[in-house]
Amino acid sequence: MNVLVTGGAGYIGSHTCVSLLKAGHDVVVVDNLSNSKRETVDQVESIAGKNVTFYEGDVTEAGFLVEIFAAHSFDGVIHFAGYKAVGESVDLPSKYYRNNLLSTITLAELCQEYDVPKFVFSSSATVYGENASPMIESMDLLPTTNPYGETKAMSERILIDIAKANPGFEVSILRYFNPVGAHESGLIGESPNGIPNNLMPYVTQVAKGIREKLNVFGDDYDTLDGSGVRDYIHVMDLADGHIAALENLSDGVHIYNLGTGRGTSVLQLVEAFQQVNDVPVPYEVVGRRAGDIAVCYADATKAEQELGWVAKRGIQDMCRDAWNYENSVGAESMSQNRK
Ligand SMILES: NC(=O)c1ccc[n+]([C@@H]2O[C@H](COP(=O)([O-])OP(=O)(O)OC[C@H]3O[C@@H](n4cnc5c(N)ncnc54)[C@H](O)[C@@H]3O)[C@@H](O)[C@H]2O)c1
Repeated sequence: MNVLVTGGAGYIGSHTCVSLLKAGHDVVVVDNLSNSKRETVDQVESIAGKNVTFYEGDVTEAGFLVEIFAAHSFDGVIHFAGYKAVGESVDLPSKYYRNNLLSTITLAELCQEYDVPKFVFSSSATVYGENASPMIESMDLLPTTNPYGETKAMSERILIDIAKANPGFEVSILRYFNPVGAHESGLIGESPNGIPNNLMPYVTQVAKGIREKLNVFGDDYDTLDGSGVRDYIHVMDLADGHIAALENLSDGVHIYNLGTGRGTSVLQLVEAFQQVNDVPVPYEVVGRRAGDIAVCYADATKAEQELGWVAKRGIQDMCRDAWNYENSVGAESMSQNRK
C-alpha cells in the first residue's frame, strides 16, 4: 500500500514507518517538526534500507495537504500528528483542541475528496478515564482529566460519524497504552524536549546522570507495592500493531486496545531497569500527581482475535532498548533542553 504517515518523524510514527517499509509498503511522511527532527526520517531510511518521501508542513492546513493528496494516490493514512503533553494541554487547551481536532477533520475530509479508503488513528488509553482495569473497548468512555484526553475522545467521535456518513471509509482507532523502548538499532527512540512527562525517558535520564533522581508519584495506591500500575508496551510491538490494523481493515469503524494486557508498577519497572542494565536509578517517593489513576492496563484480546496481533516483547526488552537508545549518539543530538 501507499501510505501517508502524519507525524512520521515523531516517536511512534518513526518506528511505525520502519515496520511499514519492512512489510513492503511505500511511505510518505508529513510532519511540521514541531516535536521532532528531520534526521529521524533519514535514520528510518537507513534502518529499513528504503526511501521515504518527506514533506515538512502542517496537517491542519488543507491548502498544503491537497497538493500532496493530488500528487500521490494513497491507499491509507496513519494519523499520528498531534500534541501529546498532558500538563501543557491543561494550560493551553485551545492549542490542543485546534491542532488535534483540526488535523483529524482535515485529513478525514481529504480522504473523502481523494478516495483514500483507509484511516488509522492514534488514540490513547486515557479515553477510558477512571474505568476499572482491564480496560475493554466496549466500555463507556469516562471524562478524562485533561484537554489532551478530550481531544482523543472527540477525534474518535468525529471519525465514527464521518465513517457512518461515508460507507466504504474504513477506520481503525488504536488506543495505545504506555509505549516505551526504542528500535533495537538505537538509531531511533524517544527524545522528549525538556523534563520528560513519561516514566521511561525519565528513568533513562536519571540512570545517565542527566537528572539526579526519579520522583515516584505516590506509594499509597491500592496496588501490589503502592505505586501506580501501567501497561507498558514496546514501541516496536506498537508499530507492528499498526501494520496489522491497516492490513486487516474493513468497512466501518474498528476500535482496538494496543497493550500487553499486563500491568507493571512504577517500582517494578525501576527494579527491572536496574537489573537488566546493571545501572542504579536513584528515586524518591513524593506525593501523588493530579489526574493519575492507580491502575491502567488493557484487555488486549480483541486485537489478538481480529488482527492476529499480540505484543511479543517484555519489560526486560523495553528496559534494554530504552537504555541502548539513551546511550546512542542519537538520543543526545535529538533532544533539546534536557537540563
Ligand atoms: N507516546 C505516548 O505515550 C502516546 C500514548 C497514546 C497516544 N499517543 C498518540 O500517538 C501519536 C504519536 O505520539 P508520539 O509519542 O509519537 O508523539 P511525537 O510528538 O513524538 O510525534 C508526533 C509528531 O507529530 C508532529 N506534529 C504535531 N502536530 C503536527 C501538525 N499539525 N502537522 C504536522 N505534524 C505535526 C510532531 O512534530 C511530531 O513529530 C500522538 O497523536 C499521540 O497523542 C501517544
